[in-house]
Amino acid sequence: MRLLFLGDIVGSQGRDMVKEYLKRLKSKYQPTWIVANGENSANGRGITEKITKELFEAGVQALTMGNHTWDNRDIFDFIDRETRLIRPANFPVGTPGNGITYVKTSEGELAVINLQGRTFLPPLDCPFTVADELVEEARKRTKFIFVDFHAEATSEKQAMGWYLDGRISGMVGTHTHVQTGDERILPGGTGYLTDAGMCGPSDGILGMERGAVIKKFLTQLPVRFEVAEGPTQLNAVLFTFDKTSGKTVKIQRIRIDAHSPFME
Ligand SMILES: [Fe+2]
Ligand SMILES: [Fe+2]
Repeated sequence: MRLLFLGDIVGSQGRDMVKEYLKRLKSKYQPTWIVANGENSANGRGITEKITKELFEAGVQALTMGNHTWDNRDIFDFIDRETRLIRPANFPVGTPGNGITYVKTSEGELAVINLQGRTFLPPLDCPFTVADELVEEARKRTKFIFVDFHAEATSEKQAMGWYLDGRISGMVGTHTHVQTGDERILPGGTGYLTDAGMCGPSDGILGMERGAVIKKFLTQLPVRFEVAEGPTQLNAVLFTFDKTSGKTVKIQRIRIDAHSPFME
């Protein structure tokens, strides 16, 4: 049982990477499930229904979000009916959308939970207690449970990994757009990686055009960020789960630089 997770998809550049390489990733790794973070897929800010469809057509089966969930107001028109797209579950009660979804394939059902950290991000409900509730709910249905914890601080992500160890199959952090190299299997059998990285431009700053970002650091003036042009990359994680226990037996990072010989 394999789960392929793609880090934050940034703009059309990131979407093009997904469309170009997902077929090859599928034939190489034969994933049971494919999940991606889509919070930056519409020009770096949020997601639209059209893009959601485009990513599902490309092979993604569920989409998670993060602090950019509401950046494109198109989302209010479809988030309540598109159950394959979820937003952080610890947004305040009454927020549109859902924080958990289930991906069913012929091999089995995967619960996907999306949470957001509170360190250097808006003060949401406690992601740890919300995780407790949703993991308990998911366990009634399946032993394959995955969490995308969208958070800034490494410490908060590690804390969530250890907190959920043994209760979920795997957890990955998103949001920082830079893939970390600390993949491991925690003692309870939960596969863990602090950040999956992104699918998007390599020569920007976190995928955005670097001139504007540097200007912002230099002047502190309001600046409009656009997605960077130039070479692109795809960052992903592949989990292999034990069929009987649901625990991770292997976790592997994937990084593809466009036009590199990686997939040839
Ligand atoms: Fe992001
Ligand atoms: Fe984010």
